[in-house]
Amino acid sequence: MYHSLFLLELIIQQVSGQSFATLQPEVHPLMRWESCSSAGCSKQNGSLVLDAEWRWIHEKNSYTTCFEDGHWLEKGYPNKTLCPDDATCTENCVLEGTEYQSMGIWPKNDAVTLKYYNYLDYSMSKGARLFMLRPDGKQYNLFKLLNKEISFEVDVSKLPCGISADVKFVAMDSNGGFNKFQGNTAGAAYGTGYCDASCPRDLRFINGQANVKNWTETPDSPESTVAQYGFGLRGSCCAQLDVFNGNSISSSFGLHPCNFMTPNQHQCIGDGCNPDVSCDAEGCAFNTYRMGNTDFYGPGGKGVDTTKPFTVVTQFPSTSDTDSGVAFLKEMKRFYIQNGTRFPNGRSKIDEVPGNSITGPLCTKQKEVFSDVNDFDKFEGMSMIGEYLAQGMVMAIGIWDDRKTGMAWLDGKLGEGKGALRGTCPDPAANIHDLLNSLEGRRASVSFGKIRVGEIGTTV
Ligand SMILES: *[C@@H]1O[C@H](CO)[C@@H](O)[C@H](O)[C@H]1NC(C)=O
Ligand SMILES: *[C@@H]1O[C@H](CO)[C@@H](O)[C@H](O)[C@H]1NC(C)=O
Ligand SMILES: *[C@@H]1O[C@H](CO)[C@@H](O)[C@H](O)[C@H]1NC(C)=O
Ligand SMILES: *[C@@H]1O[C@H](CO)[C@@H](O)[C@H](O)[C@H]1NC(C)=O
Repeated sequence: MYHSLFLLELIIQQVSGQSFATLQPEVHPLMRWESCSSAGCSKQNGSLVLDAEWRWIHEKNSYTTCFEDGHWLEKGYPNKTLCPDDATCTENCVLEGTEYQSMGIWPKNDAVTLKYYNYLDYSMSKGARLFMLRPDGKQYNLFKLLNKEISFEVDVSKLPCGISADVKFVAMDSNGGFNKFQGNTAGAAYGTGYCDASCPRDLRFINGQANVKNWTETPDSPESTVAQYGFGLRGSCCAQLDVFNGNSISSSFGLHPCNFMTPNQHQCIGDGCNPDVSCDAEGCAFNTYRMGNTDFYGPGGKGVDTTKPFTVVTQFPSTSDTDSGVAFLKEMKRFYIQNGTRFPNGRSKIDEVPGNSITGPLCTKQKEVFSDVNDFDKFEGMSMIGEYLAQGMVMAIGIWDDRKTGMAWLDGKLGEGKGALRGTCPDPAANIHDLLNSLEGRRASVSFGKIRVGEIGTTV
């Protein structure tokens, strides 16, 4: 990502705060999607922007890196202290533009391929997260999915155990916090403002300020001594809707509400970021394997054969069958299309938890049978998510590994007893170290395309 930077003229925004530099001009890859109704579908001029968390952060008027190998750098050239605290660091450091292909992001014909692992001249990058922008390129598109459906094509055939690709929606600010927080002059055009229901503390900037205070480096995996990540005192919370989490082995979809008393994106501090305080990090999810239907999805699966591309269709019917007025989410419903055949989502084979979609009763019963903590009902999951869906959420597309569980929550074994098995991946699931040492891991990629959003029954 940094290779040609030294040849470019240094042009820097002379402002304080979470601002940006243009050593590498930021050119958002075009990603059109379609908006559908009973009258047909029409192309929308969307584009993708890389999350600020994957960008080079460097000193405002030099090439000195502010953050490297999981930690904030103290010293700039010649001996200036760059990041002693949140405010000074925010003042000193800027976000850089991205050369998308060097980050493994290959757009083509309204589809995009994301590569998991990428060599860069002086470093490497792993994974990516992209947001869908409006045609102006300065604001995230807000998708209003209540009483609507979304469909897209996905190819997960090159995603092994331990790596997941996602299409999710999060209740971020549509401008990424631009000008809302003092000094955020980068905004959605530079992918700022991420939040989700796990209230992540590993974000380097939150509310326009560097997350330097109490930053703790964390190694990539238990075996690794090299820090790649860390976490600070502050975290960034908001409701989250997972339309698709999956690889070639398992997949899941689910809902993660937040406390009704909190606004969309909100900052948490320290223990206030813990899983059950303001958002439902675990959520209510449906994974056919976990529900006992073990041969529906996977390589050679009876419903979805993951060795080939397929179409994922997800519907959000409301309680009143309208998208406005007093309407709540009734159900999150799924079917697939592969090779021209339509496959309803695999049904649960657990007698006490029947069904093949997410509904209020299914969530309550599933938590009980799996002995999971039920924050979903505590946060009034179905109705809260319904409100977010009506109001509009930001689309995030990503590919990632999971430093905490090696993705065992998706494709392996996590916990004990009923519901512990989520897929056929080995226990302990693939860790990051193994992934980077395997050809399968290094070559992992996913493609998403043909995104359509519209009235129920009109996108496929
Ligand atoms: C998308 O961009 C093209 C080319 O600029 C333009 O002709 C078209 O009208 C745009 N479509 C929409 C829906 O704005
Ligand atoms: C910083 O550099 C200047 C010039 O080289 C030197 O005079 C000064 O002592 C240095 N300060 C520290 C704290 O190292
Ligand atoms: C932050 O760091 C300070 C100083 O090391 C420590 O006293 C405090 O407990 C830490 N706060 C949290 C929430 O970890
Ligand atoms: C796809 O469908 C066609 C026509 O029904 C059939 O001939 C072909 O074998 C199918 N391919 C696969 C991979 O199932």
